[in-house]
Amino acid sequence: MIMVTGATGTVGREVVRLLVARGAEAGAVTRDPAARGFTDGARLIVGDPSRPQSLAPALDGVEALLLSPRAVDGASAQVLDLAAERGVRRVVVLSAVTVEYGGGYRRFAEEFERVETAARACGLQWTFLRCADFAANALAWAPQIRATGLARGVYGDAASSPVHQRDIAEIAVRALLDPDHAGCAYAITGPQSLTQHDRARLIGEAVGRKVAFEEVSPAVLRRALLAQGLPEDVPDRLIGYAAACLAAPGPTTDTVARLLGRPARTFATWAAEHAAAFRS
Ligand SMILES: NC(=O)c1ccc[n+]([C@@H]2O[C@H](COP(=O)([O-])OP(=O)(O)OC[C@H]3O[C@@H](n4cnc5c(N)ncnc54)[C@H](OP(=O)(O)O)[C@@H]3O)[C@@H](O)[C@H]2O)c1
Repeated sequence: MIMVTGATGTVGREVVRLLVARGAEAGAVTRDPAARGFTDGARLIVGDPSRPQSLAPALDGVEALLLSPRAVDGASAQVLDLAAERGVRRVVVLSAVTVEYGGGYRRFAEEFERVETAARACGLQWTFLRCADFAANALAWAPQIRATGLARGVYGDAASSPVHQRDIAEIAVRALLDPDHAGCAYAITGPQSLTQHDRARLIGEAVGRKVAFEEVSPAVLRRALLAQGLPEDVPDRLIGYAAACLAAPGPTTDTVARLLGRPARTFATWAAEHAAAFRS
């Protein structure tokens, strides 16, 4: 079985779906016993990766593990040691480009570095997926775009290459199933560097109405994101990385094309697929 932590998240959900589609046995871990919407054919594993022992009963027979740092919440070393003890062979870590390219507050890159260090030390074969900012982060704009046609954020000229969650998931599935990816760290980005203004415009084109980016102060954005119910660390993650991407654009790599043999999905594609979320 392939065990997927963070299985209700943006990337984890796609990974579960793709594993099932390939006929692999997928175990989807969630803290929520009432979790719904997983692809038929996946096994629901109720557990909290931040309390590693809650995963112990399900780890026997697991061949590879997708590790979501958000879901393990600081317990990565314990989860990985337990996985090694139970005979798991491979781990694929959802990491971040900041580990390799810098950008944003140092403490967030350090969180990912700690997870990578634990993976190198645990004895499993490891693959690191160092992801750029997800295209799906733009969903935080959905309520205000629906209500006003405006996308509010900081530093409108900050540019990076947002990555489609399905591209990350396809690479994750390959690395989970194929030991040839062991020892590789992949920097995964979208195909094109886009400012915040570009993203708002592309969402507008997908929705069929004008959407503009409106620059607000970091303090205003922080209040708005917290009022939306996003976790406390999210404002600093977004604001710090946007400030860095204003000073120097985030990286653009050819990893998706190289590994998957086709171009990376564009932000316009992502926006077209998610247009309903932005329509009033
Ligand atoms: N967003 C980005 O731009 C970006 C960029 C690079 C790397 N990453 C990393 O990629 C990974 C996957 O991101 P994602 O957006 O797919 O997943 P996510 O939604 O951030 O989190 C995955 C799952 O973790 C659990 N979770 C959320 N908050 C938690 C908390 N405070 N304590 C314990 N568990 C919690 C939830 O599962 P249950 O409630 O079902 O248990 C959630 O579905 C994350 O580790 C993230 O740090 C993200």
